[in-house]
Amino acid sequence: MQGPTSVLASGMTGERTVRIAAAGDLHVDESRRDAATTAIAAMASDGDVVLLAGDLTTHGEPEQAAVLADACRDVGTPIIAVLGNHDLHVDRGGEVADVLRDAGIVVLDRAGSTAVVRECGVGVAGVKGFVGGFRSHTLPDFGERSLREVYAETGEEVDALDAGLREIATCPLRIALLHYAPTCETLVGEPTEIWSFLGSERMAAPLLEHRPDLVLHGHAHSGTLQASLQGIPVFNVSIPVMGQDYWLFELTAGRSLSSTLH
Ligand SMILES: [Fe+2]
Ligand SMILES: [Fe+2]
Repeated sequence: MQGPTSVLASGMTGERTVRIAAAGDLHVDESRRDAATTAIAAMASDGDVVLLAGDLTTHGEPEQAAVLADACRDVGTPIIAVLGNHDLHVDRGGEVADVLRDAGIVVLDRAGSTAVVRECGVGVAGVKGFVGGFRSHTLPDFGERSLREVYAETGEEVDALDAGLREIATCPLRIALLHYAPTCETLVGEPTEIWSFLGSERMAAPLLEHRPDLVLHGHAHSGTLQASLQGIPVFNVSIPVMGQDYWLFELTAGRSLSSTLH
């Protein structure tokens, strides 16, 4: 779908507008090769940047990642991704990332991962995120070593998100890309009993401090598309939630996101 362009307008106003095509939970394998190729081609055509919010494969087999890599290799549009829990299921996440990177996809993980496109027009801080819960129902840093390790792992993701957002602080447009949810507002529709496994409110802290222009996540297939984290737009771009292959955002530097294209 082609919406109204803004290249003439931006040239007259000095504003920089960027179109972001985003999706999460693609769950690609060989059986979805044609569908993945069609969807990625459309995203790359509609968007100036393509963002993929994890669960790129069904079970994290490098062969499944290769299907997505083939779909992305020659599209000519920057593609930036984070992995999801499905991409780590068979403990071959490093190989999955290598296969995707070999096709030109920028795969962001911890350690303050950032990517800059369009001459620093867009900065992306990307982490997978992790679990922990929301409101008063959160996993404490207490008890068995295994549970404390889960708590610590979420903490590392939070620190990486903070570092990534610091790295892109000077970019005119700043996006946080996650797989797990940083707010429960986009989990509405999922059973509340599993919210703790769908994200962690600890990830909201760096978002509230740095206030990116847009926050994207996936993972919650039955959640809610859109929410506001104290004024920061948060979108759950999980494909089952969207009911379509991707969402298209138009961001203009200096302006808050007032609407999405589709
Ligand atoms: Fe998923
Ligand atoms: Fe997931």
